[in-house]
Amino acid sequence: MVGTSAVNAATLTVSAKADVAEGVVSLTLRHPDDARLPDWTPGAHIDLILPRSSEAESEGGATRQYSLCGDRWDAYTYRIAVLREPEGRGASAYVHDRLRPGDRVGVGGPRNHFPLVPSEKYLFIAGGIGITPLLPMVRQAELLGADWQLLYGGRTRASMAFREELTAAYGDRVRIVPQDELGLLDLATWLSTPRPDTKVYCCGPAPLLAAVEAACVAWPPYALRFERFTAAAQTAPVRETPFEVDLRRTGRTVTVTPHISVLEAVRRAGADVLSSCEQGTCGTCLTPVLEGQPDHRDSVLADHERAANDCMFLCVSRSCGDRLVLDL
Ligand code: FES
Repeated sequence: MVGTSAVNAATLTVSAKADVAEGVVSLTLRHPDDARLPDWTPGAHIDLILPRSSEAESEGGATRQYSLCGDRWDAYTYRIAVLREPEGRGASAYVHDRLRPGDRVGVGGPRNHFPLVPSEKYLFIAGGIGITPLLPMVRQAELLGADWQLLYGGRTRASMAFREELTAAYGDRVRIVPQDELGLLDLATWLSTPRPDTKVYCCGPAPLLAAVEAACVAWPPYALRFERFTAAAQTAPVRETPFEVDLRRTGRTVTVTPHISVLEAVRRAGADVLSSCEQGTCGTCLTPVLEGQPDHRDSVLADHERAANDCMFLCVSRSCGDRLVLDL
């Protein structure tokens, strides 16, 4: 099963807010009583649960996932960075324009579906705000004495968050590539020759992920790991007809028709499953599969994790066969 899904829910206080690049603010979060926060590992994210607001979301408030990009050994603060997204649904504008130090916000997680696996060498590739999950990864790689390199592309130098922090700490290991000065990242040079001893971690906008994926076709399985912000494009489901889902622990069986998700069906049957993005990107609704073959439609699992058929994301994934058995 992929990553970790430990779920905590807390109200934290915004203890600091700073501009870290053009259009990007960082938030530092603490427990209101200065209590310890749950541990996390590089690649983890939290849910930020913003208050119900006409600007944040029409109803039910807004929940968004943000990678933790601070010091994982600091047990008392979390740091995240938020890009203003003019085309978004208002959550990033709320963080930029209304959230202030001293305000309280709901926080879920942390969870990690993008864990750093052991390797002698790493190539980290970031595009824009995709630098956030990679920041703690490069720290960890450095701490472990691994050989690593970071390629960091962005629209302009001024738009690239944590650029100075990275170059000051790691010098030549970090390649800063502002597109308006140097063009796009030279993926052909870095990825054309597969390196079996190297793991590639990539986070950024969809075109960058697609380009990295295309450049890595000849790399060994498991070498490439992605963190996606938006759901990957999907083909039609394997089956367009209803299927049954057995909830092993509750002893109930539900029928999933083509127009509802497995998540919706199991909730109607009384199963209590947490969700957040409901687009197959955040990993919150990860559920163990005991029997059957899921039709994986998420943007989280790697190919070998899909092939294991031992877990699925109920918000988007379906069934290849007539029946699935879930550990619910
Ligand atoms: Fe986010 Fe299912 S709720 S992956």
